[in-house]
Amino acid sequence: MMKIPNTFGIDVAAANYLEYGSEEELRELIAAGSIIVPYLHIGGGSNLLFIKDYEGTVLHSCIGGVEVTEEDEEKVSVRVGAGVVWDDFVAYCVEQGWYGVENLSLIPGEVGASAVQNIGAYGVEVKDLITSVETLNIRGEKHVYRKDECGYAYRRSIFKQPDMKSVFVTYVNFCLSKEEHYTLDYGTIRQEMAKHPVTDLKTLRRVIIEIRESKLPDPKVLGNAGSFFMNPIVPRAQFEALQREYPGMPHYDMGTDRVKIPAGWMIEQCGWKGKSLGPAAVHDKQALVLVNLGGATGADIVALSDAVRASVRSKFGIDISPEVNFI
Ligand code: EPU
Repeated sequence: MMKIPNTFGIDVAAANYLEYGSEEELRELIAAGSIIVPYLHIGGGSNLLFIKDYEGTVLHSCIGGVEVTEEDEEKVSVRVGAGVVWDDFVAYCVEQGWYGVENLSLIPGEVGASAVQNIGAYGVEVKDLITSVETLNIRGEKHVYRKDECGYAYRRSIFKQPDMKSVFVTYVNFCLSKEEHYTLDYGTIRQEMAKHPVTDLKTLRRVIIEIRESKLPDPKVLGNAGSFFMNPIVPRAQFEALQREYPGMPHYDMGTDRVKIPAGWMIEQCGWKGKSLGPAAVHDKQALVLVNLGGATGADIVALSDAVRASVRSKFGIDISPEVNFI
């Protein structure tokens, strides 16, 4: 058995753990019959909760590289290896003066997983920048999905569907802008930026990093997988009924009929913020994040998750779903 890397810091192992550095190497692993079923492809392990050891093959891409494929005065297209650390890519873009991904600074994980999960933060989702996703399937066949074929929605894509388990992301193609523009309308970003003498990419990246570091625990210090739950999206009528009871409820309009409600706020209202259940706890600075206080098993985290969900359901009548994938 070999240890499976995961930011929750859960001690789990796989019968077989394989890494590859190119599409060619992945094809060789397939041809050699090395990928013993069942198999599971992971990214940086930053959005997974392992409940038990994995009796099969865990695959991990180490495909690197950021290659410019097209460029003019206004835009640049880049092809990025699935194994590139997401924040290294963001730092590189900011360094080059390419606009688009800076609000996604410091999100843990890798480029391949970013396209699977449609990561998002501070008013930007990665689908806004993606043009296509290159894949290889378990038979070694290559297929490139155009962005409109990826089924993108909030923290969702076709790559998360069970029938797509045999499709592995190898490269992601992005289109970034060379023209100065910023997304500052989420939360306190504009306010924080106003404290700095200039608005530029480097400052915005620094501000985003400061906001994240003030709320989100560093997985190297306290095991976690970022937001544990998704923010529920409810019909407007349901939101309005709740709002009459809780006038201070924060919310974001999703078109005219639906409203997104921050699960972190509801969890805090239920009194869970900073509370623990055995070695698992609700983070004291961001109630949407569950943390491993040390030595927690996957089952300990699930027990806390179930208790939190039950509280939110009974107080607000809303069933919140995990964003983290249970394995
Ligand atoms: N809030 C509370 N108490 C809490 C946490 C949040 O009252 O303990 C309130 C905040 O005051 C604010 C609202 O809830 O009014 C939203 O909070 P925040 O801006 O911190 O964002 P979030 O909705 O909790 C989402 C993403 C994060 C992303 C931030 C910023 C999801 C599941 N999570 O969190 O993504 O960084 O917005 O854009 O959509 C992740 O997915 O792992 C992640 C960290």
